[in-house]
Amino acid sequence: MKILVLMGGTSAERDVSLSSGEAIVQALKDAGHQVLALDAAQGQKLLSNDGKYLPGGVKQKPPDVAELVRKSKQAALEAIHSFDFSEVDVVFLALHGGQGEDGTIQALLDLTGKPYTGSGVLASALAMDKAMSKKIFEREGILTPEWFLLNDSDLSSLSAVTSRIEESFGFPCVVKPNNQGSTVGLTVVNEKKYLKKALECAREYSGRILVEDFIAGRELTVGVLGDTPLPVVEIIPEHGIYDYECKYTHGKSNYVCPAEISEEKGKEIQAIGLKAFKALGCEGYARVDFRYGEDQRFYCLEVNTLPGMTSLSLVPMGAKALGIEFPELVDRIARLALKKEKPKSS
Ligand SMILES: Nc1ncnc2c1ncn2[C@@H]1O[C@H](COP(=O)(O)OP(=O)(O)O)[C@@H](O)[C@H]1O
Ligand SMILES: [Mg+2]
Repeated sequence: MKILVLMGGTSAERDVSLSSGEAIVQALKDAGHQVLALDAAQGQKLLSNDGKYLPGGVKQKPPDVAELVRKSKQAALEAIHSFDFSEVDVVFLALHGGQGEDGTIQALLDLTGKPYTGSGVLASALAMDKAMSKKIFEREGILTPEWFLLNDSDLSSLSAVTSRIEESFGFPCVVKPNNQGSTVGLTVVNEKKYLKKALECAREYSGRILVEDFIAGRELTVGVLGDTPLPVVEIIPEHGIYDYECKYTHGKSNYVCPAEISEEKGKEIQAIGLKAFKALGCEGYARVDFRYGEDQRFYCLEVNTLPGMTSLSLVPMGAKALGIEFPELVDRIARLALKKEKPKSS
């Protein structure tokens, strides 16, 4: 097939996306496809074919994207508007976070009529909005940490927010932007004196802030490919929580796949992962993040509709445990895109 890989973009996960893009381009070539690459932040100019898009790899901290966003607001629109889609069979989305993952780019691609990998507009938008996802999880009987959402007017009274936390689940709690990824803007707040700073930090990334009960326990994740849950991965991050540095710096986390949990518990979390995937209407592939509480229950945190796709990432790790090597995985994801139900209007 002839495949366009869309990567980069202007979100805080730009670097991670370029790194996924590099791996995907190489793997698609290895699988025998013809590949073109486009950076959604750079308009219509195709990337070079050398497959090196992020010299030096992902840094310790996310890039400062404010300048990039200002310069390239129209770039994704331009890239998709001016690209001649008749020359490709499928678009492979290597974007992470922001408009690449929240349904915006998916809507633009729907207008072109070209199939693209992963979930459609609605599932992408729901999954990116953690509060919306949690409402659906609760409706479907999928356990998720207790939570509430704050908007700007709630932030005017720190003491009211503190009381609300103390009356609901207490400290420690987790403060995170409602629609970010890669643990950017997230803080575990152990005591109320740290709350103000945590709220300010989350506010830099979103106008809506999610406050959640902190679930002590283990970190597990379940990939889904097509309608099959992949073997469970346990993450053992050096920092206790799986933050940006532990996610993208080699050696800062240990991974165990399949996770060392009983067969019965493994089946249980896989079933919940698939249920969460379906509840949001996801397609193709995704990854569902969990905390495994000390009460032996699984707490669903979120669904990632465009999860990391370097050869060291978690979905590829789960797939490999089933004997699916990385080039075969990306090949399958590309083929699943061709089988997707078309949006009703097209
Ligand atoms: N309620 C929670 N209890 C304990 N740890 C949490 C909680 N929420 C998030 N974390 C930690 O922060 C990480 C990122 O949170 P997550 O909700 O998955 O957002 P992101 O989209 O940034 O990945 C998790 O993988 C976990 O390590
Ligand atoms: Mg996560």
